[in-house]
Amino acid sequence: MGKIHKIVLEVKDLHTYYGLSHILFGVSLIVRQGEVTCLLGRNGAGKTTLIKSICGLVPASSGEVWYQGKNIIKTPAHRIASSGVIPAFSDNRIFGNLTVKENLEIGKMRPRSDEKRVIWTIEKIYDLFPILKEFEKRWAGSLSGGQQQILCVAKALMGNPELLILDEPTIGLAPVVIASIGEQIEILKAENTSILLTEQNVKFASRLGDACSIIDMGEIKYQGTFKDLHNNESIVSEYLSV
Ligand SMILES: Nc1ncnc2c1ncn2[C@@H]1O[C@H](COP(=O)(O)OP(=O)(O)OP(=O)(O)O)[C@@H](O)[C@H]1O
Ligand SMILES: [Mg+2]
Repeated sequence: MGKIHKIVLEVKDLHTYYGLSHILFGVSLIVRQGEVTCLLGRNGAGKTTLIKSICGLVPASSGEVWYQGKNIIKTPAHRIASSGVIPAFSDNRIFGNLTVKENLEIGKMRPRSDEKRVIWTIEKIYDLFPILKEFEKRWAGSLSGGQQQILCVAKALMGNPELLILDEPTIGLAPVVIASIGEQIEILKAENTSILLTEQNVKFASRLGDACSIIDMGEIKYQGTFKDLHNNESIVSEYLSV
């Protein structure tokens, strides 16, 4: 048996609506310290809505989100972010009319007083992603899709996340770029960053992920290891194949 890592975030029985449309139906999920927890699901399954509910960007109607010993379900989004839960959304990557460096500066948040983790600085970001150093003075909007995605992850890191949430970081990217994003995520994991990763790309997720949940039509349909998932063809074909 491997070591059981401490729980960083626990979602319990979450329900979320957009107006009258009921989108999340009693979702529960656990993210553990230093692990990559994957949330898999097809288009429209509810992945982004779940992330937005965790981050306070779309209010949940009921349920609990436990983080640092508190239920943050009613906490305003800016407080959740400043307490260390930081999302990077792939459909809302960066500010195109600012430079790469300016985008990173915007992502900066004051380290919290109890900070025990690595403190991210622009220099440390440049060490991890040399391409951003090279392009620091360019307009972010002039970068390729893959470079913009790297900047989006880097900008989230500048907030010193205790929990980094990556919403489909590989979407629309070429295989070679996907591989390099995978390598960066491995490095972050080695630094003990806790990551919640949503994906439709099961192959990519299974290489990085420790635990895995599948969401479909706003309900969690599977929770377990990738190994068990790979042995369960019917779940994969029912909820993940296109
Ligand atoms: N702002 C909104 N208003 C109303 N309905 C929405 C809104 N955003 C999403 N939805 C609906 O909520 C459901 C879940 O969408 P969500 O974006 O959470 O799925 P997803 O798993 O992130 O999908 P994708 O992989 O395409 O990003 C879908 O039926 C979608 O049409
Ligand atoms: Mg989404």
